[in-house]
Amino acid sequence: MSLVGKIGQSLDAQAKKLLQRATGAAQNVDPSQHVLKAEAEVTRKNYEKFLPQFKAVAESRRSVKRFTDAVITDEVLDACLDLAMRAPSSSNLQPWQFVVIESTVLRQEAIKLCMNQNAAKTSNRLIAVVARTDTWLEHTFSMLDYWPVQPPPAIVKNYYERLVPAEFTTGPLNVLSPLKKVGVSLSRRFSAPTPAPSYSENDRKIWAIKSTCLAAQNLMLAFKAHGFDSCPMGGFEEAGMKKILGLGSHQHITMMIGAGERAEGGVYHDQFRFERERFIKVV
Ligand SMILES: Cc1cc2nc3c(=O)[nH]c(=O)nc-3n(C[C@H](O)[C@H](O)[C@H](O)COP(=O)(O)O)c2cc1C
Repeated sequence: MSLVGKIGQSLDAQAKKLLQRATGAAQNVDPSQHVLKAEAEVTRKNYEKFLPQFKAVAESRRSVKRFTDAVITDEVLDACLDLAMRAPSSSNLQPWQFVVIESTVLRQEAIKLCMNQNAAKTSNRLIAVVARTDTWLEHTFSMLDYWPVQPPPAIVKNYYERLVPAEFTTGPLNVLSPLKKVGVSLSRRFSAPTPAPSYSENDRKIWAIKSTCLAAQNLMLAFKAHGFDSCPMGGFEEAGMKKILGLGSHQHITMMIGAGERAEGGVYHDQFRFERERFIKVV
């Protein structure tokens, strides 16, 4: 067997052990209960009907710093969270978590940790958007239980049972990472383009944050589509916030989001962006 094959086998074995250890896997799931459909399908034929609505939502979203006393009902909040979770995620592993702060005591502490920003202080809802690096294994397992076609096709089974665990598994103290690096480098050289897998917890963190930020943006657009506004906040003390919210070392707060109805003067200036040429490269 080739070296690459041996390395692959060793990672597979480690991954399988992890899969066997995984707990909380769904039992007796009816996948049809979890299939999501769009209320309206936007196509090339009908997009002109929807485009103005999308533009209105995307263009009127602002980072609002002051909100009125208007309440975002639980119903609206749930609808917005559901839309947030329609965001794409890497391998559909949905590494996000939304911590909705309802307790008055925690809210006061959270506002302080948001540096007493008005966007937090006056928000009707205050939410921590969390990226998790400790759910990928359980979710990998769930992917096979929830796959809309049962049993899942062999290619899907192979992907979630072998490739995904091999991508994330690094072993205690990342002992497997040097092996993975050799495997990836050989694969790139002799086989095919190979994406970088996780070599460390930090890689998994970056991985989780990417998908979670997409969900955060969906959440803010969903609030806007319901007539509410929001403010993403990176200006907060993460360590303290994690402590009061009971989050662990595998839960990373990507941002705090304050939401509510925009107050008069709730945005401090007109929206502006740099010229588009700065950001677009055509090759
Ligand atoms: C990751 C991130 C962190 C941010 N942190 C804060 C913050 O702590 N306080 C704040 O008032 N706005 C914050 N903002 C909002 C930005 O200042 C705002 O998006 C930017 O000025 C553009 O304005 P607009 O969103 O109204 O278009 C943050 C935005 C992002 C994406």
